[in-house]
Amino acid sequence: MTGPAPRPTRLERRLGVTVPLLQAGMGGVAGPELCAAVSRAGAGGVLGLYKEPPERIRRLIADTAARTDRPFGINLVPEVLSPDRCRAQLDAAVGVLPERAFVTFYGLPAPDLPAAAGRAGLPVVVQVGTAYAAGRALEQGADVVVLQGVEAGGHLLGTLPALPLLRAVRRDHPGAVLAVAGGIATGADLARAVAEGADGAMAGSVFAAARESEAHPVFKRRIVAAGAADTVVTTVFDIGWPNRPHRVLRNALTGPGPRLSARFIATAAGPDGRRLPVPRYSAAVPSVRTEGRIEDMAMYCGDTCERITAVEPAEVLVERIRTEYRRAQRRTRPEPDRHEGECHGE
Ligand SMILES: Cc1cc2nc3c(=O)[nH]c(=O)nc-3n(C[C@H](O)[C@H](O)[C@H](O)COP(=O)(O)O)c2cc1C
Repeated sequence: MTGPAPRPTRLERRLGVTVPLLQAGMGGVAGPELCAAVSRAGAGGVLGLYKEPPERIRRLIADTAARTDRPFGINLVPEVLSPDRCRAQLDAAVGVLPERAFVTFYGLPAPDLPAAAGRAGLPVVVQVGTAYAAGRALEQGADVVVLQGVEAGGHLLGTLPALPLLRAVRRDHPGAVLAVAGGIATGADLARAVAEGADGAMAGSVFAAARESEAHPVFKRRIVAAGAADTVVTTVFDIGWPNRPHRVLRNALTGPGPRLSARFIATAAGPDGRRLPVPRYSAAVPSVRTEGRIEDMAMYCGDTCERITAVEPAEVLVERIRTEYRRAQRRTRPEPDRHEGECHGE
């Protein structure tokens, strides 16, 4: 018994989801199966496209669209590709995405990218890590700005925890549709973010451990077993994505000690099925397609691992978050209309 649904937040209305939660697009982890399962459950599933070439992007989107008739998104990471290659990814996606889809960017994209998605009628979500970048994203026409805190798993865009960053951005942009990333693994976490002024949240680590995630089983087991003290912010996994700190699970490479040689420690199946070598210190995550020294690879994970206790189907996960969120909302916010209030007006 979940009780009456709280009034949908602006994020739910803008993206057509039924709980104010987006699954982070995660390269090598968030494929069609995870994205579609999250989407069918009513949250925002997002396909991680990282460095995927255009022809594979079309196939991945078609595969996802065939598995769900609800909204889902794609994720592009402009800073890991040249502007031309990123534009080619977006153009390939725009040509095949259904109307109900949306586009997410990690970090500020070149201004032509949100404009192109907007012209195609696709809502644009931009993840940033500073108040300045949030303002720029809104100027570029972002429909939703995701504010990433340092608790987050994966690469980090700023230095503040999510809620202080949210408060700062909300002060400057009272009418913006804002979500937080980092610190979200339960419905209580989500309700707290909404009570602090967010319109929703994005979560990564909790979905990386889900049954449909393409993360390697060893990686999933480590997320489930880990506590917050088992994560660390480092810069060591810099091959393929340099100059960006990242939060990972501690392993032999994140401790003190000299940097070792970047010799190959694993192989991963590439887009055409050929096996590609993975060097030590690669930014690539260990996925179901990786074989080798999984424990020595980059296992991106946020502090939320503290509250991630099982590998379970994404549908079960989303339903639990929805139920907990509703319950916590009823406890903390008896007034269902808060999203129409002065601070959150359209
Ligand atoms: C395994 C993993 C891979 C990630 N890969 C991406 C990515 O490819 N693109 C992206 O926009 N964000 C990526 N992120 C970061 C998320 O967008 C988000 O900031 C983060 O997951 C939020 O923190 P949480 O993991 O504690 O929920 C990744 C996160 C994780 C845990």
